[in-house]
Amino acid sequence: MSAFHWQQQGTDGAARAGTLHTAHGDVSTPTFMPVGTVGTVKAMTMDAVRSTGAGIVLGNTYHLMLRPGAERVAALGGLHRFMDWPGPILTDSGGFQVMSLGALRKLDADGVTFRSHIDGSKHRLTPESSTRIQHLLDATITMCFDECPALPAEDEVIAKSMRLSMAWAARSREAFVARQGYAQFGIVQGGTSTQLRAESVAALRGIGFEGYAIGGLAVGEGQALMFSTLEATVPLLPADRPRYLMGVGTPDDLVGGVQRGIDMFDCVMPTRAGRTARAYTAQGQMNLRNARFADDAAPLEQDCDCLACTRHSRAYLHHLFRAGEMLGPMLLTWHNIAYYQRLMRGLRSAIVEGRLDAHAAALRAGWQSGPP
Ligand code: GUN
Ligand code: ZN
Repeated sequence: MSAFHWQQQGTDGAARAGTLHTAHGDVSTPTFMPVGTVGTVKAMTMDAVRSTGAGIVLGNTYHLMLRPGAERVAALGGLHRFMDWPGPILTDSGGFQVMSLGALRKLDADGVTFRSHIDGSKHRLTPESSTRIQHLLDATITMCFDECPALPAEDEVIAKSMRLSMAWAARSREAFVARQGYAQFGIVQGGTSTQLRAESVAALRGIGFEGYAIGGLAVGEGQALMFSTLEATVPLLPADRPRYLMGVGTPDDLVGGVQRGIDMFDCVMPTRAGRTARAYTAQGQMNLRNARFADDAAPLEQDCDCLACTRHSRAYLHHLFRAGEMLGPMLLTWHNIAYYQRLMRGLRSAIVEGRLDAHAAALRAGWQSGPP
């Protein structure tokens, strides 16, 4: 088995196409990672996830440590076997998820103490314990334990938080046990400040990681500021390592991220939207609860090869949601993940063929056009 590495296959402007080589198989980039927070991509079987072309999924330290417990997952053969996903798994470190607990958490220089959202029990995460838990889960890609303030925030607050995350990144690296084909990614913080982002990148490059994530974005700053922050930050990252934009985003965000040099994304949007009757299509979003689909015999999307589109009508999907049937969320989640994977494959081809900007413009025109 070869070491974990990313191999470039083509570029177009700042965008790159490549392959991620890991202990659990190869992944074409740019790639979108479906979110499997608690060891399941909600409402989908792993066969269905595989059938969409997804190559890597995400799991969460925070949720899995509370239930069923990292030691239990390890004893049962690791997360790959536990959830039946032999491919690569990236686990988030828990810092970001704990942050969203608000009043239930207490931060100090060493780590975070928090109360479980499940039963109120007290727990603690540090760079060392987060890294150890991710090893117990057998994560292919382990993320550094970090802290991420909500935006907007005072520059002082963002600077202090970023420097804490950089100290934690060094401790996460110390705790990381290197194994062939496995990786640990550092997480760039620093809000929308070019200066703080540059300081963060320098700190992480000084430590040295197999890949670099950009965190602290899509937290209320808006797309324009997110894109300008990427333009200032991505060129500072090493060109031969994968770049991951955390928690992003809409199809339009993904296209813009790829155009600015991002290789990996994750977001709950396609899965969450699917559970609430919203479908992503080449013609923009559709809400299948809408009465205008009640008699619509057309497939959700003409050129989609997912089960919802190849076997069912918009009218049937509408009926399932109106009747509160669980097959509705299942089919629409499947479609949305299939749409996101198709979007990434299209972007990859466009990069390799040197026509990314024209392809991006055509995609955006399509989303504006509205469903037929
Ligand atoms: N998911 C989305 N944003 C972030 C972030 O800044 N840090 C971590 N750990 N996960 C994230
Ligand atoms: Zn479909």
